Amino acid sequence: MAQLWGGRFTKQTDQMVYEFNASISFDRKLYRQDIEGSMAHVKMLAKQEILTQEECGRILDGLEGILRDVESGTLAITSEYEDIHSFVEANLIERIGDVGKKLHTGRSRNDQVALDMRMYVRDEVQTTDALLFGLLQVLQTIMEENVDTFMPGFTHLQKAQPVTLAHHIGAYFEMFRRDRSRMKDIYHRMNYCPLGAGALAGTTYPLDREYTAQLLGFDGPTRNSMDSVSDRDYVIEYLSALSAIMMHLSRFSEEIIIWNSNEYGFVELDDAFSTGSSIMPQKKNPDIAELVRGKTGRVYGALMSMLTTMKGLPLAYNKDMQEDKELVFDAIDTVESCLRLFTGMVSTMKFNRETMEASARNGFTNATDVADYLVNRGVPFRDAHGISGRLVLKCIAQGKALDDLTLDEFREESDVFGGDIYEAISMKTCVGKRLTLGAPGQEAMRAVIEENRIYLQENPAGQF
Ligand code: ARG
Repeated sequence: MAQLWGGRFTKQTDQMVYEFNASISFDRKLYRQDIEGSMAHVKMLAKQEILTQEECGRILDGLEGILRDVESGTLAITSEYEDIHSFVEANLIERIGDVGKKLHTGRSRNDQVALDMRMYVRDEVQTTDALLFGLLQVLQTIMEENVDTFMPGFTHLQKAQPVTLAHHIGAYFEMFRRDRSRMKDIYHRMNYCPLGAGALAGTTYPLDREYTAQLLGFDGPTRNSMDSVSDRDYVIEYLSALSAIMMHLSRFSEEIIIWNSNEYGFVELDDAFSTGSSIMPQKKNPDIAELVRGKTGRVYGALMSMLTTMKGLPLAYNKDMQEDKELVFDAIDTVESCLRLFTGMVSTMKFNRETMEASARNGFTNATDVADYLVNRGVPFRDAHGISGRLVLKCIAQGKALDDLTLDEFREESDVFGGDIYEAISMKTCVGKRLTLGAPGQEAMRAVIEENRIYLQENPAGQF
């Protein structure tokens, strides 16, 4: 075991205690942030004449060497160190000798880990945003191609009114667009640098916190040193936003699972994105969609764990907070792989347009339009609703659609009906006349698609 402390101890740490306490097995992920943070710290120490330029140069060379060797695989991050901070410091001292011992001047592992974690999450927020952007592009293409693809819209999973595939997919476009805006919010709220907060109460050295914040791309330093080392709000916000992404992916997955069933047959998953059964040769299963739906739970779990970990903590740093890492790392791996797989699945999925349209025709989804026809000719809506309902009943008894009723059959319920009823309740009219902003009518839809296009153009990935 190699550790950064021990002066006031007279006994070795118990091996079990050491292992329970150690975080190297997971915080090794933070090596780059740890080294970059250390470089900025050292540059600032030199600028403030706390270290000489010569010392600074040697430490920077040493840190660069460590980064290079870790990235090239020649230096392994092994469990003989307690955490990533000890690993970097011990390696530095090994490389450059005693001057390496000056690295930690005016710094604590508390502000150091707060910085590393913030920089890590800040990068991941951008990766998540880029993946969401990729998914939105796929959805936009589906929308552009399916403005005229009719399908039933559902409420209570019962056929309700006809919509288009573009409209249905457009609902998910809105959700993932909001998810992107959450990434932006989180980024701007969290982008303040905790370095220089020390263990909890700042330091007596004349640190220039503005300078380190600037070197590391932050909007400025954090404003309270106790909050700086104990704030994990950004972790919670990120996990919460990741949970919302999973909730959206899970709802979409559920629909794909339903659409892909034999009974619906609205979509067919690409062979590359579905799996077979070991016993039933006819099966082509939507495992990817099911797994995305299933993995939602563990991301919610990470959010609940983190909220629970934080709830009783007195100021300032407490070791409990070390628990943030595994939760966040797992949630990130989960969400990012789900976004990648889901985007691939959706972009290769085939839509059975005829089946969708036939389904929209067969479910009396134009019953509201029969009522609206009457209303437009002076019948009060409540009466029109009753007339349309009785016509539906008649159709059910005869096993046919409203469009298939004869004019006489219509007129048995109301003599307001005329020959133009067929045109009025055709799928084309039912959808085409729904032109309020956000409705499925083709013209309304094209306007939204154009707005989406401008949004995607003006908000590319990587712009924060
Ligand atoms: N491994 C610790 C963490 O992840 C680093 C900070 C430790 N600080 C301390 N005083 N023990 O939170």
